[in-house]
Amino acid sequence: MKKSTECVQAGYEPKNGEPRVLPLYQSTTYYYETPEELAKLFDYPKLGHIYSRISNPTVSALEAKITALEGGVGAMACSSGMSATLFAVLTLANAGDNIISLSTIYGGTYNLFAVTLKKMGIETRFVTPDSSDEEIEKLIDERTKMFFAETISNPSIIVLDFDRYANICKKHSIPFAVDNTLTTPYIVRPFEFGANIVIHSSTKYLDGHASAVGGILVDGGNFEWDKNPRFKDFYTPDPSYHGTVYVEEGGNAAFILKARMQFMRDIGAIMSPFNAYLTNLGCETLHLRMERHSENALAAAEFLSSSDKVEWVKYAGLKTDKYYPLAKKYMDGKCGGMVSFGVKGGREEAAEFIKGLKLIKQVTHIADVRSCVLHPATTTHRQLSDEDLIKCGISNNLVRLSIGIEDKDDIIEDIKQALDKIKR
Ligand SMILES: Cc1ncc(COP(=O)(O)O)c(C=O)c1O
Repeated sequence: MKKSTECVQAGYEPKNGEPRVLPLYQSTTYYYETPEELAKLFDYPKLGHIYSRISNPTVSALEAKITALEGGVGAMACSSGMSATLFAVLTLANAGDNIISLSTIYGGTYNLFAVTLKKMGIETRFVTPDSSDEEIEKLIDERTKMFFAETISNPSIIVLDFDRYANICKKHSIPFAVDNTLTTPYIVRPFEFGANIVIHSSTKYLDGHASAVGGILVDGGNFEWDKNPRFKDFYTPDPSYHGTVYVEEGGNAAFILKARMQFMRDIGAIMSPFNAYLTNLGCETLHLRMERHSENALAAAEFLSSSDKVEWVKYAGLKTDKYYPLAKKYMDGKCGGMVSFGVKGGREEAAEFIKGLKLIKQVTHIADVRSCVLHPATTTHRQLSDEDLIKCGISNNLVRLSIGIEDKDDIIEDIKQALDKIKR
């Protein structure tokens, strides 16, 4: 199936007489006639549902849709993007291990890596997009378990050079995990460019309507876990799961099986069936929305570039943008709805602009059908020091716009009148 068809159809196939639309199975439990049947499920969880902390039919259908869209071998829907990222790390790393991450990432993820993982004994070694291959490779040791980056970084709008990082990861046999939230598989499928694990905050474009918080972890099935000395947990029996050997039980989907059977089972941050139902509904129009987000955002970025109230604009769809060649290479020039720009001046002028907007509302969110705005330095990234803000690519005058799917003339008119109100 082509991507657009997968958006609409993948993940649910009704049998004769069953509902045409994916049903909402709002049930925690599943009935089995005999103890033997249920016992078998504990040995082979892939055969059916036991309890909705581990899996649920509505949630599974969404997982199947995203697996198809990303071209992976399995997925696990989580209660948030943050929990999906945490599960990715915990499935790979134990206390005493380390991961490497680009520092230009969403502020919440930065904090998870820099502060919370540290408390769990997992160290994050941050690099910047300007770090050389040599500098990155120097940080890799036998306890390095993952390299993490975002396809388009939030909010610094840097496009990931997949080939470069995939080569480093391959050379050192470490998995390459990519947060594909801001692009979605409609625009880019990271597995085609060497990623091994994909993470989504489905709260954003996948749902697309700002209705359901969620996250999705996807297994590319393209990493050799077996016999890799870094990942003994994958090919030796897991005593906490009656001796299961994940590479034997899960085959090339060993990663996602381990994530579910160790961490979803023990922690339970699974997506609720209702949120999976809503997210699946959102995905049915993902292809249409991403085209319109990309078209509108390019128009807004072009307008901003022509304004004398604006110092700089970051949108990789602009031919003048530093990341335009990478956007062309990996995304066919479609860049989604996120645009960052620097208002001439600083925090005060950024606040004036936001107060002047009428249609575009200030919300702590991005990537839904409605255009919205935020000043990251004083909100989402508030917890970061000035030094860390710079590492994340955030200046005091950076305004983050998430361009929606309204009429682009209305969006531009709103931006124009708010810029006109700035006194400076
Ligand atoms: C790129 C990216 N990844 C992950 C997250 C975290 O996702 P959630 O808010 O669903 O936990 C966000 C949230 O804004 C994000 O922008």
